[in-house]
Amino acid sequence: MFNKCLLAFEVLILLQGFATAVNYRFEIENEEIMTPCQNQPSNVKDITEFFDMSEIQTKDAGGKIIVSGNLTSKFNFQLTDRIQGTGKVYRYERREWVPSLFSMSVQDVCSVLYDERQHWYRFWTQHVLNVKDIKSKCVLNGTKIIHEQFEVDLNVDLPLVTPAGQHKLVIVIEVVDEFGKVREPTLCFEILGELIRKFK
Ligand SMILES: *[C@@H]1O[C@H](CO)[C@@H](O)[C@H](O)[C@H]1NC(C)=O
Ligand SMILES: *[C@@H]1O[C@H](CO)[C@@H](O)[C@H](O)[C@H]1NC(C)=O
Repeated sequence: MFNKCLLAFEVLILLQGFATAVNYRFEIENEEIMTPCQNQPSNVKDITEFFDMSEIQTKDAGGKIIVSGNLTSKFNFQLTDRIQGTGKVYRYERREWVPSLFSMSVQDVCSVLYDERQHWYRFWTQHVLNVKDIKSKCVLNGTKIIHEQFEVDLNVDLPLVTPAGQHKLVIVIEVVDEFGKVREPTLCFEILGELIRKFK
């Protein structure tokens, strides 16, 4: 499944503007895009707990993932809640995952989900067709996010040279109620892939 490389890649690009960019491509390993996080406590769930995935399709077309269809929210979320997200990038090195320099957090995901200045807009939300109808609902239970067919474009410009190879982006999403309490369960998923340096 697809959903959200968003948070994570934002990360990478935040630093842009500092120096000459180095061009990379992130080739997603799993055709379904998202993989459950490993070794999590029982209050941490996978994406399928948060979205009905029965109307979304993803397919690998030779290293590029093509997405089409819809995601319907099953979130335990009220309009007075806030959604916070973090994305951390790890690199696989000597048989273990080690944190990279890239990470980020977003305090209020709903307010910037369809913001054109966000990098996940390019990767994902620009392809949502019914933004007008759903923008104010964010992920209210039952909200259907309708996508045009698109190819996930994971060309990323990094401000520095970083080792290529196997990487993963780990995204954690929490719904915080109006009293500041995190609702259970929490969402965690990973996007595994290969970071490839592009030489022009
Ligand atoms: C997505 O939702 C739209 C509107 O409800 C529907 O017409 C379409 O068939 C759905 N797509 C899939 C792949 O189910
Ligand atoms: C979402 O709505 C469905 C249908 O009304 C309901 O069965 C389900 O319990 C709701 N889920 C949450 C998390 O509120």
